[in-house]
Amino acid sequence: MMEKDISEILLTGADIQAKVAELGARITADYQGKNLILVGVLKGSVVFMADLMRAIDLPLSIDFMVVSSYGGGTKTSGVVRIIKDIERPLDDLDVLIVEDILDSGMTLSYLREIIAQKGAKSVRIATLLDKPERRVVKEIVPDYVGFTIPDAFVVGYGLDYDERYRNLPYVGILSPTVYE
Ligand code: IMP
Ligand code: MG
Repeated sequence: MMEKDISEILLTGADIQAKVAELGARITADYQGKNLILVGVLKGSVVFMADLMRAIDLPLSIDFMVVSSYGGGTKTSGVVRIIKDIERPLDDLDVLIVEDILDSGMTLSYLREIIAQKGAKSVRIATLLDKPERRVVKEIVPDYVGFTIPDAFVVGYGLDYDERYRNLPYVGILSPTVYE
């Protein structure tokens, strides 16, 4: 049903699973003896978060934030708004922000700042996808990247266009006929 809106499959479910296992192993090694909390950025990170947390062999906790930076379109508005914050203090916690995609970097630079202000011991970024060509905030360098992708609007595995396609089990390029 949704397949006709996808012009190219960039990453299959198997590609993603292999990468998630690799990232999970790296995070497991890096966070030995630390107090890890994964902070997922809803809603796009939900599928990645669910897989990644099961690939990390450490005690950890999770939380979520909801921010809005996009309207219904495919380009950032540059305005980031917090809709759901983390209520507890983060002192003593090593925060790993989990994102679906790093694009302009505006969302993550804002989030990283807020989380640091809450007293986190450390703040790092894990993103499934990175579109470096579109970076505006150059200081944002993700610590864990699944895949670097070209400048195209992608959906699936949590990523949406106008709240649709999040349930596709792969990442694909959305056909421009859908939004043009
Ligand atoms: P940034 O603030 O420009 O880095 O935007 C990050 C957010 O924009 C991500 O968390 C996504 O929700 C959304 N986004 C950016 N590029 C895409 C895309 O290609 N497909 C779907 N959502 C995207
Ligand atoms: Mg989104």
